[in-house]
Amino acid sequence: MSTNVKSLALIDQIENLPPLPNIVQRILEITESGTSSARDVARVLGEDQIIAAKILRVANSPFFGVQRRVTQISRAVVVLGSIAVRNLVIGVCTRETLAAPGQQQPDHALLWRHSIAVAAACDLIARRIGYDPPEEAFVAGLLHDIGQLAMVTFQPEAFRSVLVGYDASEHFVQLEQSYWGQDHTQVGAKILENWKLPDVLCRVVREHHRQAIQGTDDHARLLALVMLGDVLAHAVGVGFDVSARDSRRARACARFLKMADSQQAPVLASLQLRIQETMQMFDVADARMAEPERPPSKRAVWVSDDKAEPNEVGLLLLERCGYEAQSVTSTTQADDLSHDDLIIIDHPKGASPATELARELAEDGFGKVVVLGEVPEGMSSRQRDSKTGVCIIPRLFTVFDIKWAERKVQQ
Ligand SMILES: [Fe+2]
Ligand SMILES: [Fe+2]
Repeated sequence: MSTNVKSLALIDQIENLPPLPNIVQRILEITESGTSSARDVARVLGEDQIIAAKILRVANSPFFGVQRRVTQISRAVVVLGSIAVRNLVIGVCTRETLAAPGQQQPDHALLWRHSIAVAAACDLIARRIGYDPPEEAFVAGLLHDIGQLAMVTFQPEAFRSVLVGYDASEHFVQLEQSYWGQDHTQVGAKILENWKLPDVLCRVVREHHRQAIQGTDDHARLLALVMLGDVLAHAVGVGFDVSARDSRRARACARFLKMADSQQAPVLASLQLRIQETMQMFDVADARMAEPERPPSKRAVWVSDDKAEPNEVGLLLLERCGYEAQSVTSTTQADDLSHDDLIIIDHPKGASPATELARELAEDGFGKVVVLGEVPEGMSSRQRDSKTGVCIIPRLFTVFDIKWAERKVQQ
């Protein structure tokens, strides 16, 4: 089948997606009018008992931490606020419209978990940097990959075949482009336009894999927030994997949002719990997420010449991967450095001394050496020096990068 035919088939499937329930447009109109009250929102919600019951269940979920059980929809609107309710209605209704047909697909389930994890990350980032309203960031995160959800819903086998060719060195959107002649940002924006969802959400979906953030307005902030949330969700391992381009760009987004490492670390620390709460909110079961965290069983030694600012995000991620991480400014400081230790070299001030130190360590028989570096344009997100065996991974690395390095050093 030619790309053209595949593209037309996908467009046809998207055009035939059922519309969102009427109530979504009505709630959007009311909340955008600027003159509506919580009572107006509650009145419209009350007309659809099924959705009202779902919103009530969501309002009582641990995500909102409401002390006393909310039993009336009017109370839910007052407690959560009209904007939060509006976004919940969008979240619940989009999920219902797109989730049902593909629910049995494992890729579909993973993508939903990823969407939920990005929503949770966006919510946490928004609250930390004071983005208002945080619910907008939440719903933008939830919908950002809706184009991929449509692809996997309608063409699960084709999606799998595209995914098989993915190794994070090429960008996933390029593979989608060569298979369907369009990528998930275009497909997703089309869906949201057909559903007449707010333009701010359509733009985020359309632009979330752009190379750079343009402008400094609220839209640019929301876009940067979603791009960073996307990578943080990958960082804790919820997604297919992340390309070098996205990893590099996420660091630029963090700088754009003026979000220092020390601000990202608490987001990452609470992300797992927030993901679980969001999953409960949407009634998504995930046994893997519910697993208690295992105590660390391996040691990582983090060598950084940057005394002022140890990479807290990285240390947290290492803990997630089962490592107890010790932070030092020189390998001589590490207690009984052993050949079993994973040695992470992070010399943010200069890349070449890091590589030199890595080579010396490799020559001394330390086989598990990883260098954190900036991944240059056009390069794969991870590289391995064929002579020394030293692995180079992005500075804002993910659980996937650590797992890759572990596999490589064992080979
Ligand atoms: Fe995406
Ligand atoms: Fe994503």
